Amino acid sequence: MTKIHPSQEDDKFILKILGKQGLGAEKLPKWTAFRLALAISLHIPTEPGEELDLETKGTELDYEQLTGLGQDKTNTDTSRGQNKDFTDAYRALLSVSHNQDLFQNDEQFRILLQRHIRRGFREMRTSWRESHDFHEYLFQELFSDMSQQGPYNVDLLEDRLQDALMQIGIHAEIRDSMSGPRITRTLVYLKDVHDLDRLRKGLEKISFILGLKKQGVFMFPTDTPKVAALDVPRPSETWQRIMGADLRQWISDPSLDARLPLWPGVDVMGQPYAMDLSLAPHLLVAGTTGSGKSVCLHSFLIALLCQKTDQLQICLLDPKKIEFSYYEKVPHLWGKKVFTEPEEMATALHQLAQEMERRESLLTHAGFRDLSEAEAKGRLNLPRIVVFVEELADLLMQVEAAEKPLVRLAQKARATGIHLILATQRPDAETFSGLLRSNIPSRIAFTVQKSTESKIILDEIGAERLSGSGDMLVKIVGQESIRIHGVYIGSDDISKCVNDARRGR
Ligand SMILES: Nc1ncnc2c1ncn2[C@@H]1O[C@H](COP(=O)(O)OP(=O)(O)OP(=O)(O)O)[C@@H](O)[C@H]1O
Ligand SMILES: [Mg+2]
Repeated sequence: MTKIHPSQEDDKFILKILGKQGLGAEKLPKWTAFRLALAISLHIPTEPGEELDLETKGTELDYEQLTGLGQDKTNTDTSRGQNKDFTDAYRALLSVSHNQDLFQNDEQFRILLQRHIRRGFREMRTSWRESHDFHEYLFQELFSDMSQQGPYNVDLLEDRLQDALMQIGIHAEIRDSMSGPRITRTLVYLKDVHDLDRLRKGLEKISFILGLKKQGVFMFPTDTPKVAALDVPRPSETWQRIMGADLRQWISDPSLDARLPLWPGVDVMGQPYAMDLSLAPHLLVAGTTGSGKSVCLHSFLIALLCQKTDQLQICLLDPKKIEFSYYEKVPHLWGKKVFTEPEEMATALHQLAQEMERRESLLTHAGFRDLSEAEAKGRLNLPRIVVFVEELADLLMQVEAAEKPLVRLAQKARATGIHLILATQRPDAETFSGLLRSNIPSRIAFTVQKSTESKIILDEIGAERLSGSGDMLVKIVGQESIRIHGVYIGSDDISKCVNDARRGR
């Protein structure tokens, strides 16, 4: 009998999928999870890579159980799911997506099926958080782009908006709607300039009338007198995802002049947004659980790992112990490993501070103000070091002595080419203390619960009205804050990046 093997790592995960936190149906047969993994993988536009064949084998599943081979092909009673033969359907699906005739080649069909299933599980392991409802997660992953088939009714939105404006006492003309990846921007032609203030104060009511729950309508004055722009979020089924392939394309554009370019995503109209970490020079990334911080950090890592190891190193501190494990083998790792244990994180921070001092004296001796100046003159070839902390609050809790070197690095490291990216769910005064705050002026806020949290992160409100899933407000020192929809990074994107980095590409 032909067998399909998940990877060893998948084995435990399958139990999670079927268990209470997942489908909540432990009695369901294992092949249910396999079919879900296949569906998730088929949703990814690229082909699963050969590297998946190398993963160690987990507990096998009979191929017949997965495909239903031998069951009645015409059976319409699928209430027990398995009593229908889907083999031809699966062969047809994979033949089309791989552009080869898998009806003639059994072994190749099995290999591809296994690759898809392993990739599907890997993708789920990366993108599903146990704290988030599994059914909701599956719905988003499998169906969110379906509704792009039916256009969002902009006329209806304009009518409802007009009505909402009337209800808050504003007579205005609404025209010129434009659609971005997640919002529809509508221009409001006000009759009276005083209406602008009324509009600003009435935004919450408008959101309520439009049934937007916590997500809000954002308003901006425009260059035209008495015309305001309203950004109204659309239902998530109509969103257009910004994919890892988009990021790779931006990275390959040589026209950007930045030492450490990062692309958090696109603006509300879909234009890519780039920033230079070396000018930031440190970043706080904060937002509630499940808002998109880790995905954003992955997008930053992918952008940075394109650089050569003599130009860039990354130091990864991961007190949560899961998020950065993918990068364990990249040659850019400062300290040759991902730091997850309290003692090793403490030592790493201490050594980073020493490295900063070593660099300071090198620069002073060579007569340079900072590393950028030395780089501009073609001297002192030192790699930039970007330090990522996945959950600052956990680091500070686990390593009492962490704050001191962190503050020192935040205060002085920029001149020596060391930059911090600190992520946290808890942007309170305890985690993001005064000294860290004043030395980390560039911030990214993902969705937060309350406007007070938005104020702590950005010094302004707004992040409480974002629509989640990678929606963010980016505030780089010296610039106005800008709303960005983040790039979605899946496990395939990370694995491609890690493979390329290992091959020195
Ligand atoms: N840019 C994005 N586009 C679409 N969906 C996204 C995006 N970013 C995040 N998501 C969705 O949100 C989920 C949670 O994202 P992520 O794990 O980055 O959250 P988090 O802020 O790190 O949460 P936690 O604080 O619990 O670690 C992802 O699994 C994905 O489904
Ligand atoms: Mg996270």
